[in-house]
This record gives sequence, structure tokens and C-alpha cells, in this order.
Amino acid sequence: MKTAIVYYSLQGNIRYVAEKVATGLSADLIELKPVKTYPDKGMKKFIWGGSAVMFKKKPELESYSFNASDYDLIILASPVWAGSFTPPMRTFLEDNDLSGKNIAVICSSAGGDSKKCADNMRALAGADSLLAELSLVDPKTSPSEEKEKKISDFIDKLRATSF
Ligand SMILES: Cc1cc2nc3c(=O)[nH]c(=O)nc-3n(C[C@H](O)[C@H](O)[C@H](O)COP(=O)(O)O)c2cc1C
Repeated sequence: MKTAIVYYSLQGNIRYVAEKVATGLSADLIELKPVKTYPDKGMKKFIWGGSAVMFKKKPELESYSFNASDYDLIILASPVWAGSFTPPMRTFLEDNDLSGKNIAVICSSAGGDSKKCADNMRALAGADSLLAELSLVDPKTSPSEEKEKKISDFIDKLRATSF
């Protein structure tokens, strides 16, 4: 099973999970980096990031290497912004045809509901269903044994899936 984990992370929580899952599944890691970075401090980050989500902005990304046909499974990982997924992930999903692919998602929030983040990524990826879904609350900045268990259960579930 060849797996890609495509992720965007502003403050490191999603990067932390993406790296763990990549190690567990021997997956390729593809980090999405907007050319114009978002502020990562204070209220500014919520204003910039939140409005970019609401206006469905599609920021330009630094070039990355990804070819959907190389992979059996694609894991999409994003923080929850304004209740949904992040603008760099929108750029990726609009620029790549993932239809017919096996998709799993990872969302990280500060305590809000991750359902819309997961559902909206699934829908834009063109997938009817998800192979697995992992929702966490700030797993790096607010770690716990329970969150680590959820990460390893997610890895085990995907490892046990055959294609
Ligand atoms: C612009 C912006 C909007 C956010 N909106 C939400 C939200 O609607 N609900 C929520 O629970 N957390 C929200 N958060 C918090 C992040 O989803 C959360 O801290 C996440 O774990 C950060 O992931 P990262 O460290 O990989 O960037 C927001 C953070 C930012 C920067």
C-alpha cells in the first residue's frame, strides 16, 4: 500500500500528527506551504485565516511533488479554521483530481467540532466515504495519552485495510 499524507499546519499540531502517521504507515509526507504565509500570532491570525476560509480563498502554494496515480491511499490533514478546512488545502484539492481514490482525513481543532472540516474535505476530494477519520484537539500543544491512543488506533485501522 503506497500512502501519501498531504497536510497544512500553521502552528505545528497537524505537522506533529502527520509525521507520526507517516512513520507508522511508511507514507510520503507532502507539506502544503502558501507562498504568502499567514500570521501565526495574536488576533491577526484569526482575522486573516478566518476571512480566507469564508471567502473560499485559494492561495498560491510553493511547488510540491505529488501525483495521485502513485498512491493507493491519500490522507488529507488540516487544522479546523472557522469551522472548516484551511485555504491551502482548498488549493490542493481544487488543483488535483482525487476522484476514485481511497481517502482518509485528519482534523485538529482547539475544541470545536471537526465534522465540517472532515466532511468538506471529503466532498471536495470527490470521495463518497472515508476509510478513516481522526479528530483531535491540539495534540501537540495540549498532549494526552488519550490523543496518542487515537493516533495509534488510526494507524492500526489503516494498516489493517487492504486494497
Ligand atoms: C485562523 C484560525 C481559525 C481557527 N478556527 C477554529 C475553529 O473554528 N474551531 C476550533 O476549534 N479551532 C479553531 N482554530 C484553532 C486550530 O484549529 C487548532 O489550534 C489546531 O490544532 C491548529 O493546528 P496547527 O497547529 O497544525 O496549525 C483556528 C485557528 C486559526 C489560526
